[in-house]
Amino acid sequence: MFIFGLLLLLLLAWIWQRWHFGYWQRLGVPQTPATPFVGNVWRLLRGCCCFGDQFRELYESAAAKGEAYVGIHVLHNHALLLREPALIKRILIEDFAQFSSRFETTDAIGDTMGSQNLFFSKYEMWRETHKIFAPFFAAGKVRHMFGLLQQIGRQLEQHMARQLAASGSSATAFELEVKQLSALFSTDIIASLAFGLEANCLQQPDAEFRRMCIEVNEPRPKRLLHLFTMFFFPRCSRQLRTHLYSEEYERFMRKSMNWVMEQRAASGEQRHDLIDIFLQLQRNQPPESVVHRRDFYVAQAAFLLLAGFDTSSSTITFALYELARQPAIQQRLRQELAAALLGGVSGELDYDTLSGLPYLRQVVDEVLRLYPPTAFLDRCCNAKAGYDLSAWSRGKPLRLPPGTPVYISVLGLHRDEQVRKRFAPEQRAQHQPMTYLPFGAGPRGCLGTLLGLLEIKVGLFYILKNYRVESCPRTLPEMKFDAKSFVLTAAGGTYLRFIHEPL
Ligand code: HEM
Repeated sequence: MFIFGLLLLLLLAWIWQRWHFGYWQRLGVPQTPATPFVGNVWRLLRGCCCFGDQFRELYESAAAKGEAYVGIHVLHNHALLLREPALIKRILIEDFAQFSSRFETTDAIGDTMGSQNLFFSKYEMWRETHKIFAPFFAAGKVRHMFGLLQQIGRQLEQHMARQLAASGSSATAFELEVKQLSALFSTDIIASLAFGLEANCLQQPDAEFRRMCIEVNEPRPKRLLHLFTMFFFPRCSRQLRTHLYSEEYERFMRKSMNWVMEQRAASGEQRHDLIDIFLQLQRNQPPESVVHRRDFYVAQAAFLLLAGFDTSSSTITFALYELARQPAIQQRLRQELAAALLGGVSGELDYDTLSGLPYLRQVVDEVLRLYPPTAFLDRCCNAKAGYDLSAWSRGKPLRLPPGTPVYISVLGLHRDEQVRKRFAPEQRAQHQPMTYLPFGAGPRGCLGTLLGLLEIKVGLFYILKNYRVESCPRTLPEMKFDAKSFVLTAAGGTYLRFIHEPL
């Protein structure tokens, strides 16, 4: 009886999963074959690839080729992966009202620090918060941040000079893990802008701020489970009490924020950073405003730190990796920097010169094409009546049910031979819109685009001004992404040799 019962159960489970995973087929939507019970994310679940690689594989799957979209299953969730650029534009920009939030959700009640930031917040909360922060990241404001970035760029220069000196008095080169180096630089920048603090990571690489930024990205099983639930089972976030950050990170960030706000309120100092804005909001906003909710300020600052330091430092790292592998491109870039330095004052470049260098821009754009740090985007269909996709369906008319997540593989689009793009000024104009999305697009596109780009350029300038980079025995011959990292990161680190050859 027992064996019979078990077999019956297995048979019923098998029939159920065949029916469940046939969902898209029944709707006449092309669908990638799913693995029983786990859908299309089996490699991600087993830790064999990262989020970015998993979505790229689905983008490139046989069922998806030539289609505007393809049905996928993220475990038991029915989801669509969009491929057609014109459809992507509709979802991200033109029909934003129907896709105004991301699918991921964290526990809105228990996780006050994780749920109130711009990335995770749902439309109503997002709209109010976005209005407050958008001006801070506008072009004029970012230009004013240049002085601070330069100051930290000089500290990066000094940090590298100390590395060279530590390699021996007559040393002309040293080897280094580059992600660590660029993360020290980008953490110092965002800590200063978002927390108004001199984190001093470049001067003391084991400074508490840096330790916390490493801690927040540690791939601990509990964190991975929470992230997976937030992104793919958001309805269970409440029951699982998901938290975006660890308790230690939350404690540290709250303590830092309280301390800075008290100090600043007492001193009345103006630093043109987020703390100035927070104090103004505290005074001026009506009592019902979102800004008076518990943890509102620290939630914003902690997220900006997370969003800002890892993405920019990844890009600096991949840029140096590619330059080491392609000496001719590195030489041309260093020549451009050298020529610009001739017109600069005492080894410095001003904002307009640095941001206007065409070849530097070309290199950064190409690196972001090959290695978009946030390698996939998502939105959730929030229209009560669903969303009509019939214009894009080849078979039956299709209405996307409300609550369905849609994904975009940025890595897949960027590496698609059919939509290959080049960044030389004369070729840029020929790009098909929505095929290059390192910063996403639409109202929920990256708020820190200008700052992120400037940070990358400043970092590369202060490194390449003094050093040429080369591969070393520990450099990965082929790039492989770390399966446990959310932002694209090289597996095992990116080691390079820095040769002291000042421009
Ligand atoms: C190379 C650097 C960066 C890259 C590649 C990047 C990429 C992205 C991407 C792809 C998104 C999602 C966009 C979408 O869903 O359409 C995003 C969102 C966001 N990023 Fe960035 N980012 C970078 C730097 C920064 C910096 C420096 C900051 C601020 C300090 C920042 C703040 C944000 C915020 C607040 C959001 C959420 C926007 C919203 O939902 O309204 N990012 N970023």
